[in-house]
Amino acid sequence: YEDPLDLMDEIDRLKKAKDATILAHYYVDGEIQDVADFTGDSLQLARDAARVETSTIVFSGVHFMAETAKMLNPSKTVLLPDLQAGCSLSDSCPADQLAAYQKKLREEGRDFQTVAYINTSAAVKSLCDWIVTSGNAREVVEERVPKDKEILFVPDQHLGRYLVEVTGREMILWPGSCMVHEVFSLQDLIRAKKSTPGSVVIAHPECPQNILEVADFIGGTERMKQYCASIQEPTKFLVATEANMIYPLENAAPQHEFIPVPGIMTDTGETCACNRCPHMARNTLAKVRDCLKRGKPEIEWQPYFDKAREVVTRSLLQ
Ligand code: 13P
Ligand code: SF4
Repeated sequence: YEDPLDLMDEIDRLKKAKDATILAHYYVDGEIQDVADFTGDSLQLARDAARVETSTIVFSGVHFMAETAKMLNPSKTVLLPDLQAGCSLSDSCPADQLAAYQKKLREEGRDFQTVAYINTSAAVKSLCDWIVTSGNAREVVEERVPKDKEILFVPDQHLGRYLVEVTGREMILWPGSCMVHEVFSLQDLIRAKKSTPGSVVIAHPECPQNILEVADFIGGTERMKQYCASIQEPTKFLVATEANMIYPLENAAPQHEFIPVPGIMTDTGETCACNRCPHMARNTLAKVRDCLKRGKPEIEWQPYFDKAREVVTRSLLQ
């Protein structure tokens, strides 16, 4: 056992000694968010990654996020505390399968552009026309994808369906989903709503339609934070997203109470910890310290990063 406070001190010292900046997603443990130089949603972290001045970046998040930081910083060292931290959405759409499907659509004479959620590998990004996050998807679809093109949206079917609803644009949807958001229990959410009078449900657009239908507010993690902070009256929020999001919400809006929406019940009737992302949970203070100390695991440059960077830059940074 290592004392978290000692680890945090050690990380602070190593950060200076190794000329490193730590970026952390809102879904990692609060204590890692506390030692980070930047915390945020996927969009903000991609933008922050493009502005880092140190020679090393530690990305406390998942693999596709660290890859994005690397493609934006070819000459910097980008470390991911655990290389196994993947993402079910990214895994659902391998680059070779996407390329084969795009080929098939082209052979059928379909005139389309491919819009990818940022939760995809760099290899997939290099095959796409646009990259979106929960924070800018609506704007990109409405304002940047030419109206005369069909849209192939990958890999999140739930975010895609929600975008069809709010933008009115038809899309061909890839059948991927986030393993965390997919398993929220509608029954438990309705029960929690009834037993918490006056509560407000906030949900991430990665949730399936049945959850979004009962939500009072739908938005990515940064928008959730801004929305809750904009309400002064103390309120009880039922939060349908990864449970660590409660930490930045409490920091940004301490006047409220935030209640995590549970995932599905197990056979024994207990709520499982499925509102925690097992990939994000691979990030620990000890692993952040270790990767700083050893200078690995590192994201290696790949030839397709150049093409992926063009798409990311055009979509998110301009
Ligand atoms: P945002 O923080 O961009 O809303 O993304 C949520 C998510 O699932 C990241 O993996
Ligand atoms: Fe991927 Fe879902 Fe985990 Fe985000 S929460 S990293 S979308 S599996």
